[in-house]
Amino acid sequence: MQSLGQGSRRRIVDVLTLSPPQEGIVVKGWVRTVRTSKQVAFLNVNDGSNLSGLQVVAGEDLENREEVGHLTTGSAVAITGTLVESPAKGQAVELRATAVEIVGKADPDYPLQKKRHGFEFLRTIAHLRNRTNTYGAVFRVRNALAHATHCFFQDRGFVYVHTPIITASDCEGAGELFRVSTLDPESPPRNDQGQIDWSQDFFGGSTYLTVSGQLDVETFALGMSDVYTFGPTFRAENSHTSRHASEFWMIEPEMSFCDLAGDCDLAEAYTKHLVTTVLERCAEDMAFFDERVEKGLVERLRAVAEASFERMTYAEAVRRLEGSGQEFEYPVYFGANLQAEHERHLTETLVGRPVFVTDYPREIKAFYMRRNDDDRTVAAMDLLVPKVGELIGGSQREERHDVLKAAIEAAKLPVEAYQWYLDTRRFGTTPHAGFGLGFERMVMYATGMQNIRDVIPFPRTPGNCLF
Ligand code: 4AD
Ligand code: MG
Repeated sequence: MQSLGQGSRRRIVDVLTLSPPQEGIVVKGWVRTVRTSKQVAFLNVNDGSNLSGLQVVAGEDLENREEVGHLTTGSAVAITGTLVESPAKGQAVELRATAVEIVGKADPDYPLQKKRHGFEFLRTIAHLRNRTNTYGAVFRVRNALAHATHCFFQDRGFVYVHTPIITASDCEGAGELFRVSTLDPESPPRNDQGQIDWSQDFFGGSTYLTVSGQLDVETFALGMSDVYTFGPTFRAENSHTSRHASEFWMIEPEMSFCDLAGDCDLAEAYTKHLVTTVLERCAEDMAFFDERVEKGLVERLRAVAEASFERMTYAEAVRRLEGSGQEFEYPVYFGANLQAEHERHLTETLVGRPVFVTDYPREIKAFYMRRNDDDRTVAAMDLLVPKVGELIGGSQREERHDVLKAAIEAAKLPVEAYQWYLDTRRFGTTPHAGFGLGFERMVMYATGMQNIRDVIPFPRTPGNCLF
């Protein structure tokens, strides 16, 4: 497709679907490699639309062939030429250039020279790393997963709700909030007791970056039935792991007239939809991950798309873990928070596929989860998957006003701040349920990438907010 202001530029991924010969093809992109042999220069040009890029042949008759032969890696070029069958191995077609315009030269110290670079180094040049094979593929997959998310929910009639990023309430009640303030940190206003007077702050009270859009989106479910959010969330948890970021994206569907089993059904269908879509839409990139990042990835994902996910209660999970004979760093017992090592042992070894763990002890879960009749557990679910661990956290919500109010009090949260949330339990309350899928965890799961810093364009983690 041609866009305004871009001449007749075509994306390389589309050019590769044409049958040669085709004259007057224009592509624009960045030079990955230059190779010269006798009077001919071979360029590999990539425009980000696919993994392989396009081989461009600059022959003797090209006016600026000499200059083209000396192009530096990373330079931006615009090429017009004829698409022909390639006589050499390695590609089916190539572009015989009739004109090469040098749009923007790369200085010779361009850091992405041909040798392989480690992910650690590439994180220090996050502004350039999308021009490498691995990151180009990661961000195409990420894009496909985002698109597939909207398709999945839109096709099912869910309404996309934009929940706020600045908020006054702590959804998870865990206190892992980044404060938003415009008070002068040198001399903030103080009250009679000498404490900072947040009532003089920008919004007239304490405000934070949201940890989850759930509470807001619940109010929309209780009126618009099936809804979802897809936005950035922020957590000031000091977790230095390969699966935690301080800023990450979350998809949070919420359904009225729905219980925990229905919630799990939706989570399973959605996860499978994402997996199936990337296998179909990103076949070239997925084959690359399978070869270079995680052997057997494609097979594993195919199996996920077909398997039915296991469902077991937390009590059962604890029994299975206790009985497994496995040595854990953290002890496992009823009431313990399952650690990553427990979650992974359960899903990878004991079950061997994705598993929903449900009905957790209420002490270790958030205040809004529906209390079960046993009075000990809540209608919670976590979806655990091999390699990544917790991919989804969700629950049926406490729809009974008085039970919810008591839970807010028991969690030592300020009831006044949750008045609007409690209101929904007085004005036509209904059973409802939802979950949050950590988008970066999903990208890790789909690509086999092992560090969350490598699946988000510009990662924010404790001690690191570059770019
Ligand atoms: O389990 P969590 O904390 O659940 C919630 O926030 C609920 N309000 C969701 C809901 O029911 N609407 O977070 C949901 C998911 C986790 O399962 C995990 O995949 C991801 O978000 N997640 C993180 N991802 C990256 N970095 C972090 N620090 C994360 N914390 C949670
Ligand atoms: Mg969780």
